[in-house]
Amino acid sequence: MIRISHLMLLLAFLCLSFLTSTQTASSKGNDYARDACKVTRYPDLCIHSLAPFSSVAKRSPSKWARAGVSVTISEVKNVQSYLGKLKRNKILRGRNRVALSDCVESFSNALDELHRSLGVLRRLSRSTFGTQMGDLNTWISAALTDEETCLDGFQGRNGKHIKLLQNRVQNVSHITSNALALVNELATTGLESITDP
Ligand SMILES: *[C@@H]1O[C@H](CO)[C@@H](O)[C@H](O)[C@H]1NC(C)=O
Repeated sequence: MIRISHLMLLLAFLCLSFLTSTQTASSKGNDYARDACKVTRYPDLCIHSLAPFSSVAKRSPSKWARAGVSVTISEVKNVQSYLGKLKRNKILRGRNRVALSDCVESFSNALDELHRSLGVLRRLSRSTFGTQMGDLNTWISAALTDEETCLDGFQGRNGKHIKLLQNRVQNVSHITSNALALVNELATTGLESITDP
């Protein structure tokens, strides 16, 4: 009788410690993303899209900025291929077709600006940090404007495909806005661990 209750107690203890340890591990990982995402306008989307970078980026503003721009690039590419498909399928007609062509061009510009931004984030240096932060702000803001220009073209229009397009473009514009906030955070805190002349 005593043995069994001891065993139960031991089991309960083991279960409890297992649960608490896994919980701390995962909440700690998310804490990094949660913390980094505090400066963004869409923190839930930020945490959702950037949580996988937690273990690498931890508390490094430069790594979070880079993660933000990388994620934005992949999402812009996703939306771009969706726009391309819509265009090839000739689903939209008339004014909507014109708006779609404008979107395709806007997204191509946005991707260009984001690639340039990632290039800068890959070679951050103390001596040109101020200029680099200025360029990043200019290019990511331009990408955001391009995405908003695309949305403007479809303002007030209806239809299943248009609604989906609007949702996806809005989503990527929020992700871009988050990336811009992470870059601005890097500009504010400065370069933490870059060692160069
Ligand atoms: C918005 O972007 C996130 C992150 O890339 C993605 O997981 C989600 O499916 C997107 N939602 C829409 C509506 O496109």
